[in-house]
Amino acid sequence: MSVTQQQVLDALAKVSSPRGVALANAGVLSEISANDGKVFFSINVDATEARAWESVRAAAEAAVRAIPGVAVAMVALTAERKPGGASPPPPPPPPPPPHRHAHGVANVSAHRPPQGAPSPMSKQADIPGVGAVIAVASGKGGVGKSTTALNLALGLRDLGLRVGLLDADIYGPSVPRLTGIREKPQLNDDRKMIPIVRFGLAIMSIGFLVEEDTAMIWRGPMVMSAITQMLRDVAWGTLDVLVVDMPPGTGDAQLTLAQNVPLKGAVIVSTPQDLSLIDARRGLAMFTKVNVPVLGIIENMSYFQCPHCGARSDIFGHGGARHEAEHLAVPFLGEIPLHISIRTASDSGTPVVESEPDGPHAAIYRSIAAKVRDRL
Ligand SMILES: Nc1ncnc2c1ncn2[C@@H]1O[C@H](COP(=O)(O)OP(=O)(O)OP(=O)(O)O)[C@@H](O)[C@H]1O
Ligand SMILES: [Mg+2]
Repeated sequence: MSVTQQQVLDALAKVSSPRGVALANAGVLSEISANDGKVFFSINVDATEARAWESVRAAAEAAVRAIPGVAVAMVALTAERKPGGASPPPPPPPPPPPHRHAHGVANVSAHRPPQGAPSPMSKQADIPGVGAVIAVASGKGGVGKSTTALNLALGLRDLGLRVGLLDADIYGPSVPRLTGIREKPQLNDDRKMIPIVRFGLAIMSIGFLVEEDTAMIWRGPMVMSAITQMLRDVAWGTLDVLVVDMPPGTGDAQLTLAQNVPLKGAVIVSTPQDLSLIDARRGLAMFTKVNVPVLGIIENMSYFQCPHCGARSDIFGHGGARHEAEHLAVPFLGEIPLHISIRTASDSGTPVVESEPDGPHAAIYRSIAAKVRDRL
């Protein structure tokens, strides 16, 4: 049964803003995405009022979840300097409090430390039960970040660790495709989303909740709010490592994420081309800026390996990432060849570490995973 936007609006009629105005009339709602029983929207409010709105957000989410046919409801609270409506040019921003990101995202999380915390690190409250959160990032798109994140997660699993994977790439969530997961996460008794378990990994993707193309239009604060919810409103259980597939690039959304997610470290994926390495350097700089240790660089599509004869060709001038890592005094974690079986495995929903566990590629990912583990 499909749920319509009107049904959502009807359900929200019972929810009021802190000032007693019906939520639907308060001029704070984003577009409502209602697809396939998955409902997603945000409430955009002034940053100074965010606290008062949290109970409204929770009430809105509960009201939507109560609609018959709703499998997943996610209501994000986003705080901007200028709430709602078509935006006139924003006034000059007020000076941000020390270490607070200019877009000051408010959210939903009960674990959020008090405002005015002295350091960016202290905002990054741990996720209960999760040992270490690591980001897999790239300076630009299309370098194989998601493929690497998933196979790295499987490599860590093979080392005996309990591993989760969070696809935070709101611009192009590919984990549903890479894992073949089609089902929607269910809610537990605490109304937290239960991650889908596949290949022994606890997996959550923004792509389970919204369509890939919907995600493209999200704005920065909404992105952060959604990701914070994915981190904290998910029943991860007990994990040694949670691998986060970050959105590619080093823009505002990525920086905010790097700053707000309690990261123990970051892994940068690059290809050997010069251009990609420049981007990788930007990625490094971003994490350094927010005091997240870079655990190392992985060179993906490092060399071409012929699927027929196994011969190797360095079509991109291989080794760039290794040199760059040496130059920047960052650990080099390994080289992954460009190989057809990595691509076909990924794109058919069973990653290569799972489909060919005894093959050479799985061994490479496991060796990278061991280096990552040793650095945590
Ligand atoms: N080492 C590899 N050998 C062969 N194909 C690969 C390899 N790594 C990734 N690919 C393929 O390259 C394509 C892009 O990979 P992937 O989706 O992992 O990249 P990404 O960096 O996450 O991209 P995006 O920026 O769009 O999120 C996919 O088709 C994937 O199967
Ligand atoms: Mg990707």
